[in-house]
Amino acid sequence: MTALESTNPKDRAAWGRLDDMARELRHRELRDIFAAEPDRGPAWTLEAAGLRVDFSKQRVTHDVMEALLDLAREQGVLERRDAMFAGQHINVTEDRSVLHTALRLPPASGALIVDGVDVADEVHGVLGRMASFADRVRSGEWQGATGKRIRNVINIGIGGSDLGPAMAYIALQYYSDRSMTFQFVSNVDPTDISEAIRGLDPAETLFIVASKTFGTQETLTNAKAARAWIVEALGEGAVERHFVAVSTNADRVAAFGIDTANMFGFWDWVGGRYSMDSAIGLSTMVAIGPDNFANMLAGFHAMDEHFRHADASVNIPLRMGLTAVWNRDFLDIPTNAVLPYAQYLARFPAYLQQLTMESNGKSVRLDGARVDYNTGAIYWGEPGTNGQHSFYQLLHQGTEVVSCDFILFAQALEPVFDMQDMLAANALAQAAVLAFGRTADEVRAEGVPDDLVPHKVMPGNRPSTFILAARLDPHALGALVALYEHSVFVQGAIWGIDSFDQWGVELGKSMANSILPDLQDADRPLDRDSSTDALIRAYQAMHATVRPDAG
Ligand code: F6P
Repeated sequence: MTALESTNPKDRAAWGRLDDMARELRHRELRDIFAAEPDRGPAWTLEAAGLRVDFSKQRVTHDVMEALLDLAREQGVLERRDAMFAGQHINVTEDRSVLHTALRLPPASGALIVDGVDVADEVHGVLGRMASFADRVRSGEWQGATGKRIRNVINIGIGGSDLGPAMAYIALQYYSDRSMTFQFVSNVDPTDISEAIRGLDPAETLFIVASKTFGTQETLTNAKAARAWIVEALGEGAVERHFVAVSTNADRVAAFGIDTANMFGFWDWVGGRYSMDSAIGLSTMVAIGPDNFANMLAGFHAMDEHFRHADASVNIPLRMGLTAVWNRDFLDIPTNAVLPYAQYLARFPAYLQQLTMESNGKSVRLDGARVDYNTGAIYWGEPGTNGQHSFYQLLHQGTEVVSCDFILFAQALEPVFDMQDMLAANALAQAAVLAFGRTADEVRAEGVPDDLVPHKVMPGNRPSTFILAARLDPHALGALVALYEHSVFVQGAIWGIDSFDQWGVELGKSMANSILPDLQDADRPLDRDSSTDALIRAYQAMHATVRPDAG
């Protein structure tokens, strides 16, 4: 890796202007901003790929947005976007292309030659193999070792090899084959695999071992446990009917004992957290079928095309990413809540945690210098309306301002009474209350006693983005995920960091490997810090103690 020219956004003229604007804007409330711009709602709403995204309740004025777009220009964000789509090695610290957008190229889009290889052709080759495998499992043609139909699919993977498939399965459960069960085992906590296989018939169970590297401790250990369970019940010869692998590393798959004929590949230019639409999505495809999976890819691609070609003034991921930078660096908002008003999106916040925080949780720029501004916000969230009865109190009246993303669908997939309207009314109400609050005068006018007035004042001026789509279908999910992927990209490009590496996770992994033998042998001398050493000794003492309920 060679040293790059400065990628410091603070060197750009627009950064200083934005600083000044932020100082001025501190004294302006969303109420005033709306009053000054009567059609602000529609004026700040953009549509693409079936998503309607309303940015009007963000604390952004037209001047601010212009300055943010200038910052994007000065920081070369759009050139970097084009470099990504073209397959240049924009993941500098790992010297790799970043080509998750190639995973959703439609079959007729022609060749995409990267590093001498037609990656579009390779992508469609794997998708074809996945589709034929998924069809065989779904139809019962792919049988277990005893000739039984596969009824249970268990994906074993972690991080990007788990969160995407697990999120997508729940999100698209409405479209899934209900005669089958799908589970996702990730944690090296032995209860995870134990609970997943509890009560299942091994003869009807298929494991998808998903790991980009096929070197991840948790995944290989869980896969070993699953293998032992199958072999004990059905014999060694059953492994080939009950295990398939998804990986970039055929050698390690073979070494683990899975026939590479049962392996679905992908490539080093797909980051783990950007891989749910690669072969890592095999469980999704088995659950919802190849046609629905293709619709999901079409949704991703529609948003890719929008990001790539729409003018900067109406480009939704660009605006979303710039707004995130504005909130983080100029309004000092440290966290972003993701609030899907859709129970099927229950795991979407968890999915976004990896996408956003593993991508932009960095404090060193591409040029090697330490940043002296804030980078990635903390993403978190829960579906509404549940969150309303838990943490929304802090959102409305806490001392910390949180920016919020509301996600709502107009149509219920399972209509019951007018419940979808209730859901929608709650989402709309929350976003409005966050933005506009309720003043002391308004509270008093409702006849509230004076001593209670301050408690009932709603400060408002709390920013949110409102994403609305017709229904949660595979296309909408693809478009939604791609929107966040590209927003993350824009943020990282402004901050001048590498959004596609994850060096910060390595040291903990290797230290765990060195602690393991110490934990397992109480006679080994310890020489770490006094806290870790004492915890090891305490663990050993407790671990050795027989539980009173152990029989
Ligand atoms: O520990 C972080 C990480 O490397 C993620 O980036 C990745 O998604 C996850 O581990 C799993 O990696 P693999 O797919 O190689 O097992």
